[in-house]
Formats: sequence, C-alpha cells, structure tokens
Amino acid sequence: MAYKLWITKPIAALMQETTETHEHSLKRTLSAWALIALGIGAIIGAGLFVRTAAAAANNAGPSVTYGFMVAGLGCAFAGLCYAEFASMIPIAGSAYTYSYATMGEFIAWIIGWDLVLEYAVGAATVGIAWSEYLNKFLDQFFGVSIPYEWYHSPFETSMSGVHGIMNIPALFIILVLTMLLIRGMRESAFVNGIIVITKVAIVLLFIGLGWSYINPVNHTPFIPDPTIYTDGAGVDHNYGGILGILGAAGVVFFAFIGFDAVSTAAQEAKNPKRDMPIGILGSLAICTVLYILFAYVLTGVGSVNDFRTSGKEASVAYAIQTYMTGYGWLAKLVTVAILAGFSSVILVMLMGQSRVFYSMSRDGLVPKIFSAVHPKFKTPYKSNWLFFAFVGFFAAFIPGDIVGDMTSIGTLFAFILVCIGVWIMRVKHPDLKREFKTPLVPLVPVLGIVVCGAMIYGLGWTNWLRLGIWLAIGLVIYFLYSRKNSLLNKGNK
Ligand code: ALA
Repeated sequence: MAYKLWITKPIAALMQETTETHEHSLKRTLSAWALIALGIGAIIGAGLFVRTAAAAANNAGPSVTYGFMVAGLGCAFAGLCYAEFASMIPIAGSAYTYSYATMGEFIAWIIGWDLVLEYAVGAATVGIAWSEYLNKFLDQFFGVSIPYEWYHSPFETSMSGVHGIMNIPALFIILVLTMLLIRGMRESAFVNGIIVITKVAIVLLFIGLGWSYINPVNHTPFIPDPTIYTDGAGVDHNYGGILGILGAAGVVFFAFIGFDAVSTAAQEAKNPKRDMPIGILGSLAICTVLYILFAYVLTGVGSVNDFRTSGKEASVAYAIQTYMTGYGWLAKLVTVAILAGFSSVILVMLMGQSRVFYSMSRDGLVPKIFSAVHPKFKTPYKSNWLFFAFVGFFAAFIPGDIVGDMTSIGTLFAFILVCIGVWIMRVKHPDLKREFKTPLVPLVPVLGIVVCGAMIYGLGWTNWLRLGIWLAIGLVIYFLYSRKNSLLNKGNK
C-alpha cells in the first residue's frame, strides 16, 4: 500500500478508542461555570507571577500591560478556532487528536511533537518558577535561603558573581509530581476549586491593595523609547517601542497557556454546544482583565530596575515586601498560594504530556513504551519516567527565560496550525457537522494567524532558531521512525 502522508484517522476509530481507554464512560456533569473554573485553574500560574516582571525588565517596561492585551487578543481568535475544532470531534482529546482526524497524519505529527514544547518544556518553566518562590518561602518563614548555585542553572550568575550549578528544587517538584501522577493522582474538582479561588483572591488583593502604592515615576514613560537591552546572561532584547510590546506579548503569552485544557473536557460538558465556547472564552476573558490590571499595578509598585536586579526573582513577593509597608502578611500569603498554585499547573501539564504521547504511541507514531500501563495504578508510568528525565533536565540545567520562551513559541506555532486547520476544513469539508462554528471565517482565523505570528516575530531570532531546530528533529524522527510504524498507514486501524 502506498504511504499516505495526509491520511486521516476515521472518527469511528477514535470513538472506539475512547470507549476502550476510559474504564468508566465520562458523565456529562460540567456546567459552563465548572468549565471556566477548569480553565482558570490551568491558566493562572508562572506566566503571571514570574514572566510579567521578566517581560517588563527585558522587553517593555510598564507597556507589558499592552503586551497582555495583544496576547489576550491572539488567544481569543485562536480560542474561537480551537472551539470549532474541538466540537467537530465529539470526544476528549488534544490538538493532536483533532488534527489526526481532520488534517492528516503529517500535520498531526507536527502538532503532537510541538505540544512537547507546550506541556513538557512548559512544566519545566513552572518548576523553575516554583523554585524561586520556594526560596522566598524559606526566607520569609525561616530566615534561611538556598545557596544560589543550587537553585540556578549553569547559565546564570548572581549579582555578586556566583555561578549556578543545578536547580535542585525545580528537579525536586517535578519528581514529586511525577510520582503522584504515576500513582494515579488527579486533581479533584474540589481541590481545583479551592486553588482557583485562592489564586484569583491573591490577584484581586494585590490589585486592590497595591493600587494606592503605584508610583507614577515607574509608569513614566509608559512605553519606553526603543533600544537594545542586554540582560545579565548577555542576551540582547529589543526593549521599548512596538517591538518591545510584541516581544513582551510573546513572553507573557505563557500566562494564557492552558485555556485549551477546557476543550479536552468536551465529553464531560452538560451542553457542549453552548458551554464550550463560554468555558474557553469566559476563562480567557476573566484572566485577560485580571492580567492587565495586575501588570499595571506590578509595574507601578516596582521599577524596571528592580525587576532587572534584586526583584528579578519572586518579583511579586519582592514588590509587596519592599514597597507596600504593613503588608508583610500579603507577601507571605502570595508565596504560599503560588507554591500550591504552581504545583497544580505542573501536574496538569505533565498529565497533558503523557496523554498526548499515549495517543501517539497507540497510533504507532512514537514507541510502544509511551503507552505501557502500570499493572496496578493503570497509568502510563514508563512514559511518566521518561518525561521526568526530559523535563527534569530542562528544569535543572536551563534558565527559566529560555524554557519559558520556548514554551511560548511552540504553543503559538500550534495555535497558528489550528487556525489554518479550521479554515482548510471549512473549505474542504463544509458539510461536516460542527457543534460550534467559529464566527467570521476566514477573518477570525486570519487574525489569529496574524496576531500569533506577530508574537512569534517579537520573540526574536534565537527563539525562531530553537523552534526550527526542535521541528527539524521532529521531522527526522517522523521520516525515520513514525511513518514506518504508523498503524493507520499499515492498515491496522
Ligand atoms: N499559564 C500557565 C502559567 O502561567 C501555564 O503557569
């Protein structure tokens, strides 16, 4: 049989697999509000509490606020496309699953491979952010701190000239969560609810209480003049002006990653047609408003110089401790809430990663080991361990700025493919049943492509190169391994 690069997986086969892999069929219990909570639980994390200050320091100063608007807009367009894509295939799945059924094996492979950047490298980013706040926690509560070299990568140097060796706390949290995942731990809706309430509460408290501590000097000029800023690691960034805002948008785009998690719950929604778009766009809208206000207050309370020097790490707790006298309790509360909140984001990302590779492995596109299930816990434990090695390596040895931007650019690329995919499907298969239709096609997909493309542009050539290398590795694996082992192409599916 001739090899088909664009072969699509029949939806009937997908449906059958879902019934096989879920021991109990999923109940339709989630309301629109529950979907919004699910989205917010996966969304608010390191992007807001760590990457905001990095984007202000390296790219845009106070105009990181505009960066959040651009990123939120890009996500809204892509989110509308995501919702249509997800509603065409009425089962739980990721962009990989949807694209296999609609755009064919080759695109599905690219998306699946690219999702490793979103999930696995993203988990490493949040792990590194967790380690910053762990150090803050030890300092606030016990007056001790971890030696610099043991919570930084070898590519980082402290202001006093100490070189990092390895980020042990980041490795530790990834290990603990991997072990919990292997034992089959999932976050219950109840725990997610508590974490969502806590996260939103500290964001609101910071906005409300910090507002009167905004120092107008820090907001002047709001959009800095364009220049090149060289950070502590010797990396050049376009700072200020439009390019600075686009760069900042690309960096803080990380803060929105996770809203697509809502689309994976399609099967559990009470009324998917109405509630999926509400869940996706509702969680996005709430987060965008919170983020814009938060960034405005944070850059008003602390200065760009703070975020480049002593407030570079655990920036929110730093800003409160340094400038908001009398609110030491808030700084402590923020730290504790962040440690818990980040753990739940990492858990969701690690789980997402093993699910995607589980599906790819069942399709023969990656080796069988990724779908080997633990005899007792029924989890893909070998896959979890392999990804622990991968994620742990990034968390321990690569700086947060680099893994954060790799996550952003990889996810932006996946979003662009989803926007293109929805448009192609409308032209090629206009009659396919769609529970939810993206409005104004092709305008909305095109705007999604343009805005996400602009953020990729803003992230600069080092990140383009990293994405290019990652995709090139993926293509080599595809042509050397996956196309030979694809079960669909062998006629076994
Ligand atoms: N959006 C998630 C975060 O910011 C990934 O941590």
